[in-house]
Amino acid sequence: MAVDLLLGLQWGDEGKGKIVDVLTNNYNIIARFQGGPNAGHTLVFNGKKHVLHTIPSGIFHDDAINLVGNGVVIDPVIFKDELDKLEAQGIDYRKTLFISRKAHIILPTHCLLDAASEASKGKAKIGSTLKGIGPTYMDKTGRNGLRVGDLELSDWKERYRTLADKHESMIAYYNVDIDYNLEEREQKFFEAIDVLKSLKFIDSEEYVYQAQKEKKTILAEGAQGSLLDIDFGTYPFVTSSNTTAAGACTGLGVAPNQIGEVFGIFKAYTTRVGSGPFPTELFDEDGATMAKVGNEFGATTGRPRRCGWLDLIALKYACQVNGVTQLMMMKGDVLSGFKTLKVCTGYKYKGEVIHHLPYNIEPENVSPIYTEFEGWSEDLTEMSEASQFPKALNDYISFLEKELEIPITIVSVGPDRKQTIFRK
Ligand code: GDP
Ligand code: IMO
Ligand code: MG
Repeated sequence: MAVDLLLGLQWGDEGKGKIVDVLTNNYNIIARFQGGPNAGHTLVFNGKKHVLHTIPSGIFHDDAINLVGNGVVIDPVIFKDELDKLEAQGIDYRKTLFISRKAHIILPTHCLLDAASEASKGKAKIGSTLKGIGPTYMDKTGRNGLRVGDLELSDWKERYRTLADKHESMIAYYNVDIDYNLEEREQKFFEAIDVLKSLKFIDSEEYVYQAQKEKKTILAEGAQGSLLDIDFGTYPFVTSSNTTAAGACTGLGVAPNQIGEVFGIFKAYTTRVGSGPFPTELFDEDGATMAKVGNEFGATTGRPRRCGWLDLIALKYACQVNGVTQLMMMKGDVLSGFKTLKVCTGYKYKGEVIHHLPYNIEPENVSPIYTEFEGWSEDLTEMSEASQFPKALNDYISFLEKELEIPITIVSVGPDRKQTIFRK
């Protein structure tokens, strides 16, 4: 069986967690393939909200296997915290949660290095979640990292020490003022490692290969979004992994010809948290309304998310680089009540009108050209089928489908599992 992918098409927080949870009914295995605890995936059901950072969003289904793939970076302390929360909910994860031996470990000093790097950048800071993501992937590609499988070796603590000592000298090199108590952090880290070691470590690429042969259904869950991709995002204001479809191949060991459906998920408008260019960002009442109605605060850091109109040029680009086969539109309910909606359908770029994402989308180079749509006033949150949609929403959806040449198969009308409408 081919492996299906679910990916965010914007700057993250599109609602991946919600939809993975909904789709888990159709899959035997849910596998995260990149990113780490910089992610915050929110699930809402039975009147409760759950936020996952590293653990795949299928974990609340008893019969699904949840796999943390080799492309993921794991902070044992945050992972333990997630496990504690699951345990408190009565979730028995021991038989269903597997971790790749090849996943890299985030050390306490990686987080400190992240903080030092950001502090040294001043105003040019990336707006990182400070979870140690960049430094951990740097050690991975620099061939210095500590992997989950290393924890099974007798000398892993020595390897840890060598790396942490090196990090301490790098922190000193930054010469910035960051306060830290490494001993305290290490104590928590070693305790959390013991918990991590009680879970099932596997050779995940082999596991995935065999599962495919046994005709098991697999959904790969992305983190972040395509515009935060290390290669294709708004560099340097990006994360440090490939968040696009190719990342699922390297992050799980799935061959490109084994990829099936590519579900691309986007908000009916756009948000971004952290620094970096955002051509359709709003600084007016409309942006404030989106933020308020959409409750746009980061699930990991609590920072307010920047809001703006849907950027079709950027969305088209994301569909292209991912080979999206089905689209899912989230948070349509948040747009109820806007008299007029705008969609960016072109950019003014250095005196020209263009319809693709150029190398540089800084505000001094790019300004959005909008197409306007009539809004709808109906509350969508109680709707249960597409036949109830107002005409203006159907027009909005049809326009996007026509422009992107991809069907929108799910429309989400609220945070709850149940507020999910299948169109085709
Ligand atoms: P993820 O990182 O892609 O999983 O998304 P986040 O969980 O960071 O952010 C999505 C936020 O929107 C969460 O608070 C969800 O509960 C919420 N959400 C998801 N879908 C909808 C929707 O259709 N309507 C509304 N109003 N909220 C939604
Ligand atoms: P999910 O999976 C939104 C952003 C940060 C920052 C940049 C780099 O919940 O969609 P990093 O911590 O990776 O060094 O931060 O990327 N960022 C996210 N924004 N959702 C996320 O994940 C994000 N993960 C990282 O805000 O701008
Ligand atoms: Mg999120």
